[in-house]
Amino acid sequence: MSTTFAGHYPIESRTGEIERLRLQAEAMAPDTGTMLDRIGVEPGWRCLDIGCGPGGITGLLSARVGIGGQVVGLDMNEEFLAHARASAPANVEFRRGDAYGSNLPAASFDLVHMRFVASTAGDPERLLREALRLTRVGGIVALQEPDGSTLHCHPPHPAWDRLKSALLRAFAGVGADLTLARRLYAVAREAGLADVQYRPFLIGVRSIDPMVDYLPSTVESLRGTVLRLGLLSETELAAALAQCRAHLRDPGTAFTMYTVAQVWGRKQT
Ligand SMILES: C[S@@+](CC[C@H](N)C(=O)[O-])C[C@H]1O[C@@H](n2cnc3c(N)ncnc32)[C@H](O)[C@@H]1O
Repeated sequence: MSTTFAGHYPIESRTGEIERLRLQAEAMAPDTGTMLDRIGVEPGWRCLDIGCGPGGITGLLSARVGIGGQVVGLDMNEEFLAHARASAPANVEFRRGDAYGSNLPAASFDLVHMRFVASTAGDPERLLREALRLTRVGGIVALQEPDGSTLHCHPPHPAWDRLKSALLRAFAGVGADLTLARRLYAVAREAGLADVQYRPFLIGVRSIDPMVDYLPSTVESLRGTVLRLGLLSETELAAALAQCRAHLRDPGTAFTMYTVAQVWGRKQT
């Protein structure tokens, strides 16, 4: 298979990235579960998680479709896939492939889902065309994408502000869209989905929560882009990471994450 993948996904596959994605997925599991319940995922369904990373939402799907159903996780990153396969339930299979053009058969899934792929790798319209191709008529396409403007910390701290600015500018600098959540409903309608639903949610994080390191660890995963674009020097980055982590460890500090918009709709004839 070709090792060239479309899009411009900027997040590096460094040590710690699997753990960062795992903690993020865990924190969002209750809201993802609510979305899947509202969609009405049923035992026996065949579901696809495009850009599943080291697991994505495949575990939540596996529990809902049961032994009579099947879940496929698709990603370009072999390291993520190997990690996912190591603990995969019997009804989940992980495949390497391109989110923008897989070799999976057309109309073969009841649900096709993507989280944080369109915003980071780009070209949501093209991704949606591929998702629609893979979905059966009457099946569901679902997306979850962020709006980074709700990343706020209290009490305020200059190191938080520096890292937040570096994160937003690094994504913008490579063509990623961390405001995709705002227009996701319109994008889904324009792609031709019917009965489009719209459910934004926002998570709050305290010093004792597993996701406390979200901002420093994500900037670390964007280190190459941050340095290449001259957003921070090596020294400034190291200092901002240390100061921000110290502030986030303070029991009195709390922050809100990016807002996540969940949008889903039905494939029409
Ligand atoms: C931000 S991560 C999100 C992972 C997972 N969806 C989750 O929410 O936990 C985005 C994922 O998309 C994958 N990805 C980016 N571009 C891709 C492409 N062209 N084809 C397949 N996977 C891609 C990356 O390897 C990464 O695992």
